[in-house]
Amino acid sequence: MCGIVGYLGGGKAYGVLIGGLHRLEYRGYDSAGVALEGRGGKLKVYRSRGKVADLERLTEGKDTSGCLGIGHTRWATHGEPSERNAHPHVSQSGRLALVHNGTIENYRPLRETLRQCGYHFNSETDTEVLAQLVDYILERGGRSLPEAVKEALGQVEGAYAIAVMERGNPDLLVVARKSSPLVIGVGEGETFVASDATPIVGYTDRVLYLKDNEVAVIRRGKPLEVQTLDGGSRPSLDIQTLRLSVAQLEKGGFPTFMLKEIFEQPSTLTDCLRGRITSDGKRVVLSGVTDNRERFLRARRIVIVACGTSWHAALIGKRLIQQLGGLPVEVEYASEFRYGCPRIGEEDVVVAISQSGETADTLAAVQLARELGAFVYGICNVVGSSIPRSTHSGTYIHVGPEIGVASTKAFTGQVTVLALLALCLGQIRGTLAEEDVERVAKALLRLPETIEETLRLAPEVEQLSKTFTFAHNFLYLGRGYNYPTALEGALKLKEISYIHAEGYPAAEMKHGPIALIDHEMPSVIIAPNDSLHDKVLSNVQQVKARGGIVVAVINKGDEAIKSLADFVLEIPAVPECLTPIVASVPLQLLAYYIAVNKGRNVDRPRNLAKSVTVE
Ligand code: F6R
Repeated sequence: MCGIVGYLGGGKAYGVLIGGLHRLEYRGYDSAGVALEGRGGKLKVYRSRGKVADLERLTEGKDTSGCLGIGHTRWATHGEPSERNAHPHVSQSGRLALVHNGTIENYRPLRETLRQCGYHFNSETDTEVLAQLVDYILERGGRSLPEAVKEALGQVEGAYAIAVMERGNPDLLVVARKSSPLVIGVGEGETFVASDATPIVGYTDRVLYLKDNEVAVIRRGKPLEVQTLDGGSRPSLDIQTLRLSVAQLEKGGFPTFMLKEIFEQPSTLTDCLRGRITSDGKRVVLSGVTDNRERFLRARRIVIVACGTSWHAALIGKRLIQQLGGLPVEVEYASEFRYGCPRIGEEDVVVAISQSGETADTLAAVQLARELGAFVYGICNVVGSSIPRSTHSGTYIHVGPEIGVASTKAFTGQVTVLALLALCLGQIRGTLAEEDVERVAKALLRLPETIEETLRLAPEVEQLSKTFTFAHNFLYLGRGYNYPTALEGALKLKEISYIHAEGYPAAEMKHGPIALIDHEMPSVIIAPNDSLHDKVLSNVQQVKARGGIVVAVINKGDEAIKSLADFVLEIPAVPECLTPIVASVPLQLLAYYIAVNKGRNVDRPRNLAKSVTVE
């Protein structure tokens, strides 16, 4: 939620900030702003409601010079999207500008105290309180900007990544973090700051990930200083090399990031599988598991925590691990886990799934699980993000940057890693016969070509989507491994097309949702040739008997369902436990084309953000 960016160097800050904000726009896009160090020691602040492009229009013809600046793209939490609630916030005396990602939980009492000291507030945001608090400390005298920032943060409860600059001080930028991400790019004579590494790519590959309760003081011509809020400093800066290219961040000829990411899945799954199955296809090699063999061997159960699409992957993971790994599994929404008095202990393994690695609810669940003594294993995409840095071990899905807000390639990567995890557990626990490991492992190795073949459905799905552009409601049904696929298909459709869609276990339909079925209500039924095929076939009959429209996702040659359904999408056959990976592809395409028909912004659907760093 919200993206922040900063620059101090010899170049023009504005271009770096705008370019960075475009890359961070997936984090929020209801308003944007920049502050620049102006000539004659003045701060120039431009803010606008809407997208970064609106901000660019606002600054046309204006003075955007300056070699120091900070920028922000917002996903509203406190106060509506508007110019006055947009960041940067300038303090009452005008001496500093501040951008913030996160939530200041105790902003109300702080605001009351500051009001009593004569401060006025122009916005409804929690962030402005922090700007005024730093201002108050500076105005009392005797404190430098870094000291004032540290003193202010000492009084703050909540989550923050901030960047602060001071009027008349073009050589200093102060940044800090707690529970919200912040990356510093160290270039030649210039320093970059951002919520993730994407704005830094192309400028430098030397990055430092700030840790919780750290404050970085960036001074022109001086080495970077990293201090802690309690007065300590980092012994070694631990600069890392960034492995991300500009090409990975561009659309590569596709009209949208989402379509590019759907079509990338054969190659992202190749990357995800690389080195994780022996070349003879007989064994799975996951060092995150085998290096911690004892913890997995003594595990009495696995608890998976995640949100949204990652939670759907977790539901599939539950079946995979129970079937192949032989361990009981519970799946919890990360946001509920904390408040449900979790009975977690040292014999439990908690698996946290998150594409971004920054989701606040999942991160909080990870922290609680660690406090309760569990061994915590992460399945994440963004390398170096907060969750992988907070877990004991884990496996990256390695599907590359996912920019489209709706998750696609990350979902198939997550399920693939969960299948590898289940096989690896089956191997080390001895619950799986060698030939079963080999059968699934070989099918996993063939996945990239299976998905390539599935993607050839795109023109057919595009055509089919036209039938449903004006539908108001959709039902998605599936059973067993594909009940979560139904949930995921429904989520994809609603988040990008704004059509109401519900996912249900197909057999539950008769306990309520069947009342909704009529000739205006399409049901998308996921019905591969698996162990529950005949049961799902009778669900198709039940929908048809009530005049409903059926779109069935079936395996090639399934004449029984083909003769009943109104439309079929035929996918290649794979072992039952891998069907969600293949079946989710036509559902991604269906949601995509319906949303495009409706003229929606599929990459940036309304009200959503890619990285949800607020509770
Ligand atoms: C849906 C979607 C969200 C995320 C959820 C968790 O397409 O993208 O539901 O899956 O916000 O995000 P991560 O996986 O980053 O923790």
